[in-house]
Amino acid sequence: MSDNRKRRYVVALDQGTTSSRAIIYDQNACALAVEQLTFPQYYPEPGHVEHDALEIWETQLQALRQALQKASVQPDEVAAIGITNQRETTVIWERATGRPIAPAIVWQCRRTAGRCDELRRAGYDKIIRSKTGLVVDAYFSGTKAEWLLDRSPELRARAAKGELLFGTIDTWLLWKLSGGRLHITDVTNASRTLLFNIHTLDWDDELLQLFGIPRNMLPTVCGSSEVYGMTDRDLLGVEIPLAGIAGDQQAALFGQGCFAEGMAKNTYGTGCFLLMNTGEMPRESKRGLLTTIAWKIGEEVQYALEGSVFIAGAGVQWLRDELQIVQDAAESERLARSVPDSNGVYVVPAFTGLGAPYWDAYARGGIFGLTRDTSRAHIARAMLEAIAYQTRDVLDAMRADSGLAISRLLVDGGATQNSFLMQYQADLLGTEVVRAADHESTARGAAFLAGLAIGMWSSLDDLRRLAGEQMSFSPQMAAGEREDRYAGWQKAVERVKGWID
Ligand code: G3P
Repeated sequence: MSDNRKRRYVVALDQGTTSSRAIIYDQNACALAVEQLTFPQYYPEPGHVEHDALEIWETQLQALRQALQKASVQPDEVAAIGITNQRETTVIWERATGRPIAPAIVWQCRRTAGRCDELRRAGYDKIIRSKTGLVVDAYFSGTKAEWLLDRSPELRARAAKGELLFGTIDTWLLWKLSGGRLHITDVTNASRTLLFNIHTLDWDDELLQLFGIPRNMLPTVCGSSEVYGMTDRDLLGVEIPLAGIAGDQQAALFGQGCFAEGMAKNTYGTGCFLLMNTGEMPRESKRGLLTTIAWKIGEEVQYALEGSVFIAGAGVQWLRDELQIVQDAAESERLARSVPDSNGVYVVPAFTGLGAPYWDAYARGGIFGLTRDTSRAHIARAMLEAIAYQTRDVLDAMRADSGLAISRLLVDGGATQNSFLMQYQADLLGTEVVRAADHESTARGAAFLAGLAIGMWSSLDDLRRLAGEQMSFSPQMAAGEREDRYAGWQKAVERVKGWID
């Protein structure tokens, strides 16, 4: 059998905030095996979040090896690997040794909130928005990289000499997978750094100067679907093409088949990220949404509007790990259904501040409306409802910004398995919510991008045909009740703003 005929699988590596996953797809985009390994989260101070980049790499490699084994797929049968990743999380490592100089600063980390205030006070928000499409917030990589280099003058000198390399997680994984031969990223990840001009598609010298980041520590920016290089033979015994890269939310947009302008998806992961394809022109938001790059395939660039909510699935984890009122995510659904409503309770899970559309780094979580008869079921229900309310905040802003009705919202991610949440979401939006047959749209998007690059699939039409059956939730709540409940949420949000000022 010729080598190319043998190579009939595509692997997606989905490096998320709480776990590293590997999924093996066949030519029909059917997932043959999924492997997922969690890794520790570090909270050195309240509001600070770190990862160990080596733990990320080790779990990712192990997940890849285990998934291949589980699917009984040999490495030489893999036609391409696509990478998708938690975005913004920032790693700096030594070019010579590959050793990170410090823990990775995670997208949720608030440590640079003060620096962002300073930048806004100095009036940089307008120029940053116009060049990068982003708001000035600790969420993005720019101030995180600056913070890492600011730890010592020696680090700054080493960075200037080209001894240190910057990367988001895609870049870090590609560096490791290629045995240090590739130092690259794609436009979607670059567009989350505060350092990248989304119009010229290049690192922006003015912003690099503002944050004190030397250009020579930055990765080369590539498209989202092309062969970038090969894996290091020592890892799996063969070389495999590395052929797709996209930040996880953009990958989910692609995996959901939102190829046309006006199509929107919401992914319920650690956070909740609603993206709408806005076509070939970047659209500026007036309501706290982000303008971001959806993907670049060949010379064609597509843009998106994004509403980023920091806590969604992480709120259910909080019910499980910190409050210990549920044993697993499925129990949160059973508990929520055991009561007719939240009994007037609202949970605002602003554990790491509020993202879109509020952008308040100083907000912190709150529970409101407690009475003597409030039970854990009410709190669990209120936590799930909060995910739906936050999505409503963002969808309202998106409708107003785009002038589009958005009558169907495609949804994916782990929490979409929770049918209570999906129904509540449809009720609260007054919009049909359509659950993807394969809720792993993120990994699917990465596989699609890689498969396209190596010719496993030949066109977007080809990919559209691979979409499976979906389940739809239609709104059932009366409009008056919907608006009353949402008004309660808005009142609660007002209370948590600026909490730690
Ligand atoms: O911007 C952060 C986002 O990419 C994280 O995604 O799936 O790890 O919640 P997730």
